[in-house]
Amino acid sequence: MHKTNKNIAQRAQDISPFHVMDILAQARQLEAQGQDIIHMEVGEPDFETPQPIIEAGIQALIEGKTHYTPALGLPELREAISAWYQTRYQVDVSAERIVVTPGASGALLLVMGALLEQGKNVLLADPGYPCNRHFARFVEGDVKSIPVTADSLYQLTAEHIHQYWDENSAMALVASPSNPTGTVITESQLGDLSQAIKAKKGHLVVDEIYHGLTYDGFETPTALAIDEHAFVVNSFSKYFGMTGWRLGWLVVPEGYTEVMDRLAQNLFLAAPTMSQYAALAAFQQNTLDILEQRRQTFEQRRNVLLPALRDVGFEIPVTPQGAFYLYANCSRLLNEQIPDSMALSRFLLKEAGVAMTPGLDFGSYHADQHCRFAYTTDETRLLEAVERIAAASKTLS
Ligand SMILES: Cc1ncc(COP(=O)(O)O)c(C=O)c1O
Repeated sequence: MHKTNKNIAQRAQDISPFHVMDILAQARQLEAQGQDIIHMEVGEPDFETPQPIIEAGIQALIEGKTHYTPALGLPELREAISAWYQTRYQVDVSAERIVVTPGASGALLLVMGALLEQGKNVLLADPGYPCNRHFARFVEGDVKSIPVTADSLYQLTAEHIHQYWDENSAMALVASPSNPTGTVITESQLGDLSQAIKAKKGHLVVDEIYHGLTYDGFETPTALAIDEHAFVVNSFSKYFGMTGWRLGWLVVPEGYTEVMDRLAQNLFLAAPTMSQYAALAAFQQNTLDILEQRRQTFEQRRNVLLPALRDVGFEIPVTPQGAFYLYANCSRLLNEQIPDSMALSRFLLKEAGVAMTPGLDFGSYHADQHCRFAYTTDETRLLEAVERIAAASKTLS
C-alpha cells in the first residue's frame, strides 16, 4: 500500500500503483540472490526498436533536430500517419485530424481532458487497462466500470451501453485488441457499439495500440472506417517496438483539432522531436518487413503458450487474437494457503521463478481469480516457465 500524506491532493492519493510492481521488486531481489526468473509480467515487446527507426533517430540528432516541434506534431509525421491509414486500412483520415502525442498515454490524457469533467463519467470494461480509470480520476471525471466476461470477448457491447449509460455518461473507451485479455472487437460488434453510443449522443474512444499484432489472419478494423466521429488512440510503442521513445497519436473528429492543440501546448508542449523524426522510418517497407516477422513470432508463442497453460489448469475460455497477453482464470490452482491470484503470483515467483501479473491490476471483477501472462519472452523460456509452474503447483494439492 502506498503511504498517504495529507499534503498530497486527493486526486493523487486516489491513483494507485500497479500491484505487479511488488512482484517486480521481489523478482529483482531474487535475481540479485542468483535465482533465475522468467518474466511474463512485462507489457512490452522484448525486441529492440527496428534498426531503420534507430538510424533515422540518430540521423535526426546528428542534424540537430533537437528543438520543439509544433504541439500537434511534426507535419511530415502527421502526413505519414494519414498515409498509413490509407495504405493499411484504405481509410481517408486527413493529417489535420491527427495529433502526435507522448505515447498513447499522452493521447488518453488529451481525450479524457477534452471530454470528461466533474459530474461526467466514462464507461470502461473491467478487466481493462488500469491507467484509464486513473486518467479519468485525474481530470475529476467518474468511471462506470462494467464487468465483462468471455461471452462478449471481454469487450463492451451495444447491450452494455443500453444497460449502463446514464445522463452523465460522456464517453465509452474500449481497447481492441485489449490489455489484459488480448481479445478483439469484431467489425459488427464495433458497428453496433458505435450506433448505440451515437444514439446516446456520446463519444466512442477506441484504443488501437495493439493494432498490427493480430493473429489467425484476423485484421482489426480501425474504428475510423466505421465511425468518423470516433476518437482513436494509437502508439508507436507496441507494434512498432518503440516503447522507450514515448510516441503515439490521437485521431480526432472534425472540429476537435483546435482544442487538442491548446491542451497539448499546455500539457506537454510537443512529443519528443527525435522520436518523431525516427518514426518517419516506421512505415517504410524494410521496417514493416521486420515487424511482420515479429508478429509471426508472437503468434507462434501464443500458439505454444495457450495450450500449455491450459494443460496445467489455467482456464482461458477464448483464444485471444491479438496483443501479447493471455488472461487466465487460475481458480483451479488456488487453495486455502493460496486463496487468490495475488497470492499465486507471489507463490509462483518464489517457488517457480515465474513472474506474472495478478488480475487485481486490471480491475476488480473476479480479479482475484485471474492473472495475466505476457508472451514477451522467447518460446523456450515460455515453455520452461510452464514446466516450472506445473512442478510447483503439484506441491499445492
Ligand atoms: C491498452 C493500452 N493503452 C495505452 C498504453 C500506453 O502505451 P504508451 O504510452 O507506451 O503508448 C498501454 C501500455 O501498456 C496499453 O496497454
